[in-house]
Amino acid sequence: MESLASVVLAAGKGTRMKSGLIKVLHPIAGLPMIAWPVAAARDAGSGPIVLVIGHQATAVQGVFRGDADIRCAMQEEQLGTGHAVACALEALHGFRGTVLILCGDTPLLRAETLKSMLALHRGSQAAVTVLTAVMEDPSGYGRVVRDASGRVARIVEQKDADPEEQKIREINSGIYCMDSGFLFGNIKGLGNDNAQGEYYLTDLLAIAVHQGLTCLALQAGDAVEIMGVNDRSQLAEAGRVLRRRINREHMLNGVTITDPDTTYIDHGVTIGADTTIHPGCHLSNGTIIGDGCEIEGCVSISGCRIGDDCHIKAASVLEDSELGEDVAVGPMAHLRPGTRLGNKVKIGNFVETKKITMGEGSKASHLTYLGDAEIGRDVNIGCGTITCNYDGVNKHRTVIGDDVFIGSDVQLVAPVSVGRNSLVAAGTTVTKDVPPDSLALSRVPQVNKEGWRLKKKT
Ligand code: UD1
Ligand code: CA
Repeated sequence: MESLASVVLAAGKGTRMKSGLIKVLHPIAGLPMIAWPVAAARDAGSGPIVLVIGHQATAVQGVFRGDADIRCAMQEEQLGTGHAVACALEALHGFRGTVLILCGDTPLLRAETLKSMLALHRGSQAAVTVLTAVMEDPSGYGRVVRDASGRVARIVEQKDADPEEQKIREINSGIYCMDSGFLFGNIKGLGNDNAQGEYYLTDLLAIAVHQGLTCLALQAGDAVEIMGVNDRSQLAEAGRVLRRRINREHMLNGVTITDPDTTYIDHGVTIGADTTIHPGCHLSNGTIIGDGCEIEGCVSISGCRIGDDCHIKAASVLEDSELGEDVAVGPMAHLRPGTRLGNKVKIGNFVETKKITMGEGSKASHLTYLGDAEIGRDVNIGCGTITCNYDGVNKHRTVIGDDVFIGSDVQLVAPVSVGRNSLVAAGTTVTKDVPPDSLALSRVPQVNKEGWRLKKKT
């Protein structure tokens, strides 16, 4: 296998996004935009990948921190695509093989397309191969000019094109394969005598043709792949395409998605077979869901690991939590980070949890807050129970043993513990540890004053 390196151009700011964040860092289907073309290059077999960065360089570098194949090249001033690639080549000093050139703002490009382009390029020993597409409306793009026999002659930018050239509908995607020898030998020879006063990378095609070298174009089967994202409307459009691809893959793996158009599954989520995802769900941050689960509508799950046969009911929010098997959550429950639920646990409506463990078979069915708590097996937490975990300065833990029954409307003032098999009566405020097998009761005795209301009215 001949060696492959990539250059990803991402120094521009992306003015049309009208954003404080540079364009290539805008998230799309769970990844910063630039991570998509980088992933495509990797999947196409790329070795070193050089990112040409300028604006917000540190933030771009941060996306790939620790990735051994990523190198960064600073382009202080954006003098054109040719200048950008020249900056990148310093980071590829001594490299021999094929250089793939991509843009940071084309998240829809697939590795399969890059592989086809590489096969054509290498099979024909071309100096340059460009990915093109035929568009209904080619305005804004560089046009591919072909000679009388249909061979690629050069690329002309919209702003430099004469009226005849402007009619050409085959456009330059800005994605290329180049032979490293040709690229290193000619990149410094580019001029900037054109309408924009920029160093155009595209001029390399005419240079190759002039030198009698092979210059090819591969037309993308689906023009959507080369769509560049320039504004937020295109960002949404590209997100829709990526989501469709992701959802399709899950469906082919045996996941039922009742309405893929309104299901938002980010990159990097794993879902087992025979799990059903209902409309309006958002699954993100590397969430893993087991087999045979049911995720009802409008559920948001981020960074969670969920076992088999769980049932997450409508409008629940789950963050950085771990669920065993056959767990039921919701509707309208909120599992906050650090929640760990054993098998067959039940969390009902309007229950909020944070940093808790709950043993097998335990239940908190209604209107409860459980924070910083360790709860054993087969515990029943009654409606309206609150762990009072915060004293205004520090957080404190509540420990509840196995087989405990906590009645309704109980406050557990932490730090406090309830020993195994105890019962805490409804309405109790627990301020002292409860020994095992006990009854804890802190209710004020009830007084009935008979006839009191009648006397008041007279
Ligand atoms: C470029 C092509 C055009 C093609 C189009 C496809 C040239 C001269 N023209 O035009 O033929 O149809 O892409 O989208 O190459 N960049 C840098 N440094 C620079 C300039 C650009 O890093 O100095 C980066 C940008 O951040 C962007 C990419 O290169 O990711 C393309 O630059 P852009 O200015 O958008 O090129 P176009 O004018 O669209
Ligand atoms: Ca431009």
